[in-house]
Amino acid sequence: MTNLDVEWAKDWMRRASAILTEHRMELIDLDRAIGDGDHGENMSRGFAVVVTRLDEAPPEDVAGVFKVVAQTLMAKVGGASGPLYGTAFMRAAKSAEGELDSAWVVTLCEAALDGIVTRGKATTGEKTMVDAWTPAIEAARAAAEAGKSPAETLRAAADAAADGAEKTVPMKATKGRASYLGERSIGHKDPGSTSTSYLLATAADAAEAAA
Ligand SMILES: Nc1ncnc2c1ncn2[C@@H]1O[C@H](COP(=O)(O)OP(=O)(O)OP(=O)(O)O)[C@@H](O)[C@H]1O
Ligand SMILES: [Mg+2]
Repeated sequence: MTNLDVEWAKDWMRRASAILTEHRMELIDLDRAIGDGDHGENMSRGFAVVVTRLDEAPPEDVAGVFKVVAQTLMAKVGGASGPLYGTAFMRAAKSAEGELDSAWVVTLCEAALDGIVTRGKATTGEKTMVDAWTPAIEAARAAAEAGKSPAETLRAAADAAADGAEKTVPMKATKGRASYLGERSIGHKDPGSTSTSYLLATAADAAEAAA
C-alpha cells in the first residue's frame, strides 16, 4: 500500500480499541495517581462503541471513519478526553482529502493537535496529551521529509509520542484535574499522553499490516 485508505482507518480503530482494552487498567492506574481514575474506562468504552458503529455502517472513506470516531467520542466519552480527542478526530477528518501519503501523516498529527489546543488551551510542558502530539509532529515531519513511507512516518510519530509521554513524568500538571495536585503531580506519567502514544502506535501497526 502506498497511501493510507479506508481499510487502514478501520483497521486502526479496531487495533486502537484492542490496545486500549488491553491497557485499560494501566490507564486507570495512571489517572488514579493524578486524576480521577476514569481515563482507561473512558477510552476503552469509547473505542469499543466506535468499532461497533463502524461495523454497523462502514464509512466509504478515511474522513468518514474519523467523523464516526469524533462523534462517538464526543457523545460517549465523558471528562476532558472525550471532547479533546473528539475535536482532534473532527479536525483529522477535515484533513483527510487528496493524497493520504507521508506528508499527510504530518498534516493529520497537526490537525489533531490543533483541535486539542483549540479545545483545551494547553501548551507543551503542562503534562497533557499535547506533550505526546507535539514531538509526534516533529518526528513525522522529519520522516516524511526524508522520504519515508506512510507506515514509517506513522511509526516515527508513535515512537516520539511514547517518548513524549515518558517525559511527562517529571512535569508538574497545570491543566485539567491533575493540576489540582500541583507539585504532587510530579513523578507520575500523564494518562492522556500515554493513550495518545497507543493510538499512534496502532495507526502505525495498521499501516504496516497493510503494506
Ligand atoms: N486542557 C487540556 N489540554 C490537553 N489535554 C488535556 C487537558 N486537560 C486534560 N487533558 C488530558 O486529558 C487526560 C485526562 O482525561 P480523562 O479521560 O481522565 O478525563 P478527565 O478525568 O475529565 O480529565 P481531567 O482529569 O484532566 O479533567 C489527561 O491525562 C490529559 O492528558
Ligand atoms: Mg480522568
